[in-house]
Amino acid sequence: MDKIVVKGGNSLSGELEVSSAKNSYLPILAGAILCSGEVILHKYPKYDDVLNMIGILENLGGKSKVQGSSLILDMTCLNGFEIPSNLASLTRSSIFSLGSILGRFKYAKVAYPGGCEIGARPIDLHIKGLEALNVKVIDRRGYLTCDGRNMRGGDVHLDFPSVGATENVMMAGVLTKGRTRIFNAAKEPEIVDLQNFLNKAGAKIRGAGTTTIVIDGVEKLGSVEYTPISDRIITGTYIIATSMCGGDVTLTNTRPDHLQALISKLDNSCCKIKVKGDRIRVISSGRHKSINKIETMPYPGFPTDLQPQIMALEAISNGTSVIVENLFETRFKHVSELVKMGAQILTEGRSAVIKGVEKLYGAEVAATDLRGGAGLVLAGLVADGYTVVSNIGQIKRGYESIETDLKKLGADIRKVEFL
Ligand code: EPZ
Repeated sequence: MDKIVVKGGNSLSGELEVSSAKNSYLPILAGAILCSGEVILHKYPKYDDVLNMIGILENLGGKSKVQGSSLILDMTCLNGFEIPSNLASLTRSSIFSLGSILGRFKYAKVAYPGGCEIGARPIDLHIKGLEALNVKVIDRRGYLTCDGRNMRGGDVHLDFPSVGATENVMMAGVLTKGRTRIFNAAKEPEIVDLQNFLNKAGAKIRGAGTTTIVIDGVEKLGSVEYTPISDRIITGTYIIATSMCGGDVTLTNTRPDHLQALISKLDNSCCKIKVKGDRIRVISSGRHKSINKIETMPYPGFPTDLQPQIMALEAISNGTSVIVENLFETRFKHVSELVKMGAQILTEGRSAVIKGVEKLYGAEVAATDLRGGAGLVLAGLVADGYTVVSNIGQIKRGYESIETDLKKLGADIRKVEFL
């Protein structure tokens, strides 16, 4: 079983290129199901969640190969519309495929999705959205069996700006006759990326990035070549890591405009951030005043996917801070692991109060989920002594190799195989 071992105390310096956005690649791979032709995606990131999604496409009859840093998919001859539980349970993004399978085949049978255990992760908004397009959904025995033979465009009002439900309905509308409008849509950059990918393949979508998205159904999507955006959460993770460790790091292939909530929190308080084109330079002394309050919100608010990482930063700040997790009801599982390292954190419901300490201590901790695991690695970078992080398969779902990246920036970190 592999674990990450990190010895705290090093500052970070150097330059690192950020890889493609996991939460763009996953819905775009689902969108590839709508394309009857070749789909070429550049800057292919080898996150385990992406590999799982490719497995789902191959199970539907798609063919994939890697050429250099590009992923080549042949989606001409899909011959299935089912996603079995053993594949669907590997990733949250399997549920996004429902809309695209329905769009192409007008019928789908998809098992409940997997994903990080950070809350109940219901799928009621996905189902409600598809039913608004006249899909008949039978939700039984852990499978959604959907009959879309009478699908037509319609208006979908999302109770909550759900990222996945927005993407699912968008994709369901692409090959469906008539106009589909999504109100109270999520506005994440990855949704704009999905719109741009689908429009390049021949879809007619507008409004992604705003609260109202309009999709006019077309007959067919053809071949497409596309380069998804870079990962704003990985970028944010390494900005926070540099703020914690101290140093001078430049991240390239970034989208600073996607990180305004984080940058506005950290710049001139925890570090100095200089932006130039797709480069973000972070200069930090390593010690900083605490940030009074951080509330996670749908984009463009502070991203929930950076909550564990900024909690690690606040754990060693001068002062007390409060983090409110508004998106997921149990996204504090990393707190008990940080407390093992000497952090002083109290949680009550969706709020966590963090009293900064002078020093954290290396300990044996376990990654509770993808971003919780990343937060523990960051805590290990500043802890006294050695931290051993287990269950690192969680981290590999969204980082190709967090230990390789951080080692390149000067951290004393490595992956060790424990027999
Ligand atoms: C996406 O998950 C991301 N995953 C998550 O990233 C991210 O944390 C989340 O959006 C919020 O930004 C991918 O894109 C693959 P939601 P998703 O639907 O679509 C409730 C990571 O670490 N809800 O926007 O599942 C839900 O319970 C992962 O990369 C319903 O009530 O998130 C939550 O409280 C973790 N009913 C809120 O909406 C539904 O049908 C936001 O969830 C769907 C969601």
